[in-house]
Amino acid sequence: MNILLSVSILLVVLTQNVRGSHRSDILTINNEDNATSQLFDYRESHPDAQLLTISTGQPVYLSDTNSLDTNLLSNAFLIDSIFHAVNARIPAREVFPKGTGGFGYFEVTNNVTKYTKAKLFEKIGKQTPVVARVATSQILSGGNDLRTLAARGLSVKFYTEEGNLDLLGIGTPVYFYRDPLLFRELFHALSRNPKTDVTDPTASMDFIILNPIALHTFLWAFSDFGLPRGYRHLNSFPIHTFQLYNKDGESSFVRFKFLSSLGYKSFSLKEAAAISGFDTDFFNRDFYNAIEQKKYPTWNLEMDVWLGCIDQTDFDLFDPTRIWPNGTYETVPIGRVVLNRTVTNHFAQIEQAAFNPVNLVPGIRHPPGKLFQIRVLAYTLAQRNRLGVNSDKIEVNCPLYANNYNRDGQPPVGDNGGDAPSYYPNSFNGPEPYYDPARPKKDLVIKEESVVHLEDSRRFYNEVLCDTQKQRLVDLMAMTFLRVNGTLQERFIELLQKVDSDLAKRYRRTLERLNRTVNLPDLVEEINPLNPNPFQ
Ligand code: HEM
Ligand SMILES: *[C@@H]1O[C@H](CO)[C@@H](O)[C@H](O)[C@H]1NC(C)=O
Ligand SMILES: *[C@@H]1O[C@H](CO)[C@@H](O)[C@H](O)[C@H]1NC(C)=O
Ligand SMILES: *[C@@H]1O[C@H](CO)[C@@H](O)[C@H](O)[C@H]1NC(C)=O
Ligand SMILES: *[C@@H]1O[C@H](CO)[C@@H](O)[C@H](O)[C@H]1NC(C)=O
Ligand SMILES: *[C@@H]1O[C@H](CO)[C@@H](O)[C@H](O)[C@H]1NC(C)=O
Ligand SMILES: *[C@@H]1O[C@H](CO)[C@@H](O)[C@H](O)[C@H]1NC(C)=O
Repeated sequence: MNILLSVSILLVVLTQNVRGSHRSDILTINNEDNATSQLFDYRESHPDAQLLTISTGQPVYLSDTNSLDTNLLSNAFLIDSIFHAVNARIPAREVFPKGTGGFGYFEVTNNVTKYTKAKLFEKIGKQTPVVARVATSQILSGGNDLRTLAARGLSVKFYTEEGNLDLLGIGTPVYFYRDPLLFRELFHALSRNPKTDVTDPTASMDFIILNPIALHTFLWAFSDFGLPRGYRHLNSFPIHTFQLYNKDGESSFVRFKFLSSLGYKSFSLKEAAAISGFDTDFFNRDFYNAIEQKKYPTWNLEMDVWLGCIDQTDFDLFDPTRIWPNGTYETVPIGRVVLNRTVTNHFAQIEQAAFNPVNLVPGIRHPPGKLFQIRVLAYTLAQRNRLGVNSDKIEVNCPLYANNYNRDGQPPVGDNGGDAPSYYPNSFNGPEPYYDPARPKKDLVIKEESVVHLEDSRRFYNEVLCDTQKQRLVDLMAMTFLRVNGTLQERFIELLQKVDSDLAKRYRRTLERLNRTVNLPDLVEEINPLNPNPFQ
């Protein structure tokens, strides 16, 4: 049936503009690097130095800034600086650890009140402040932004008058699996080998062979869609199917998407190799400079709205591994996210930002399905560990209004509820819940099956990619897996064969071609023969 249903409009939108291999300003090193002039900018706006103190406010005496020939323990400046510096680490995010971000606003551009009563969407022109983080999975702080075979994400926290709305999205419109049990397995298979501490293509390939459900998303990640030309070009998909309801209690089922206003563009492997050679922070630098130069990163927020009746369909609209077939939905624009302010402090405002899919507002219900349910727990637990039990009281995470019966815990505690009653219910006018007859009475329960749809991979390969894009996908795949030993390769090729015989044939041919190449720079030269070198 699905062959006729064909690929979505979404893909058509995505494939426009997919490659920009022409010479581009972002690849030119010039003086317009605001990231490198930040210290000069600071001095410019602070013509006079201020008084230096230690953490507890006492002024630092000049001779204490040299500890030689002094009594160590009477030098409070020395004690304060050393014992702060050696305790400055907190746990990194387990996934997507390296990233950057900025502040800005969301503006409604289309009337969507017939779908949702969420106040942030209530009228055209309404603005809501946001913080956003863009990040790459699999690389730690200090890692190479241009790593291939990593997911990239855009997460947006909307500070609405009904609490924070967090939409976390990744760069592929599908996710690797629907059973959350695969989370650890995929994460480990893509991470460093526990003995060698080296990333291990053998493990990655083995994972795909044994979990072919993940192949569809892997093909997206190996393709031009896996390596955006900087975060500003990333499209971002929150993946799950959300239930919206309006003021009359009518529900719709939607998938959100953030589409870059610049259009999606990718890097070739050769460009990526050249850039990584001199700037592993390229994505972060490009993002920072763009905002400082008022080329504000902007995403159009849209949603695909499922058209049919949800219990009379042979397509599972909640399946995160699959793209909705053409004809089953309409696309509705909502508004745009504009980031117009860089952070003043990365650690305070981005490292400490806590995006959590549980943060939804009235008018948007939790998506059904195990994947979402486990995420609710996972992010909450991870953030307790990373930032403490009061992570929501850290400034960047603070909602516009919060009032509840939680008290105490690891700082920051804010006013800790002040003198209000600390238990609920109470007879003393402590905060009370709201009631809304429009809210769906019951959570939707869905049945999820383990079936693998290899036709999705086939359709991606044949209907989304053009010939040169197919070859680039196969080039990167072959290069990634070049070192994997024979028996696994054969099983992998068998899997590709089940998807498409051209895919399998091309992969084998490319592998054999690369197998003869031993010199890495030559190999990068040889890859992407169809793509002109932008540095020439
Ligand atoms: C079993 C499924 C999943 C688990 C257990 C999981 C777990 C996590 C955890 C623990 C973090 C770090 C949170 C923090 O410390 O602040 C994280 C970050 C993230 N996850 Fe997931 N995740 C899952 C699925 C997904 C899916 C389906 C998406 C796609 C939308 C996604 C997108 C992201 C993004 C974009 C971030 C980075 C957020 C940031 O920039 O702070 N994850 N995930
Ligand atoms: C999707 O369907 C629309 C009309 O329903 C059609 O115009 C469009 O060409 C179709 N797209 C694909 C990729 O088949
Ligand atoms: C960023 O760099 C551009 C080009 O050098 C410069 O014109 C602009 O003033 C800088 N912006 C800031 C905020 O420093
Ligand atoms: C928005 O749409 C709703 C329902 O479709 C309609 O009742 C309302 O008048 C519209 N609002 C504006 C400002 O056009
Ligand atoms: C960003 O946009 C908002 C909303 O238009 C505006 O209030 C704010 O001043 C802008 N910030 C900067 C730094 O331009
Ligand atoms: C590759 O696999 C074959 C067959 O299992 C095995 O005999 C051979 O030793 C392996 N080579 C390496 C380098 O592990
Ligand atoms: C790669 O070369 C080695 C050694 O010449 C050979 O054993 C192996 O089968 C080749 N692999 C492929 C996929 O051609």
